[in-house]
Amino acid sequence: MRVLFVCLGNICRSPTAEAVFRSKLVKAGLADQVQVDSAGTGDWHVGKPADTRARHAAQQRGYDMSALRGRQFEAADFQRFDLMLAMDNSNLSNLARMRPSNSGAELDLFLRRYQLEVDEVPDPYYGGDHGFEHVLDLIEQASDALLIEVKGRL
Ligand code: 4NP
Repeated sequence: MRVLFVCLGNICRSPTAEAVFRSKLVKAGLADQVQVDSAGTGDWHVGKPADTRARHAAQQRGYDMSALRGRQFEAADFQRFDLMLAMDNSNLSNLARMRPSNSGAELDLFLRRYQLEVDEVPDPYYGGDHGFEHVLDLIEQASDALLIEVKGRL
């Protein structure tokens, strides 16, 4: 199974989701059965490491984002992934607009899929450190639910 997380810049939210969910897969012994990646709809941060604030916040909870580099979402991703999870409604509508009719990939809003208290992971880029903690809280909860779903689909 192949899962792609998508946000705007691919330096804050989606790489955080990639690192958190990959860590949960490793702990569950499923890392070799599920492929995980992340991408941004925008191109400003292609090739760049994740945002320093996101990396530090993740590191404090034991998630290593140091190897991740920004990349832009591309049309071929619709053929490469089974499940594409957007961080907010804007990301989701951008993906839906690009989606080719022959893509079998499932598209969804990450938090809404698992009925968290909010639908969107708020963009933390222009805010303070608290925003990055909130992003991690939401992503950890949704990743637990995603792990349960994935176990049922393997
Ligand atoms: P992300 O956050 O979509 O969670 O990676 C952002 C990163 C950069 C920008 C916006 C959002 N930006 O405008 O450069």
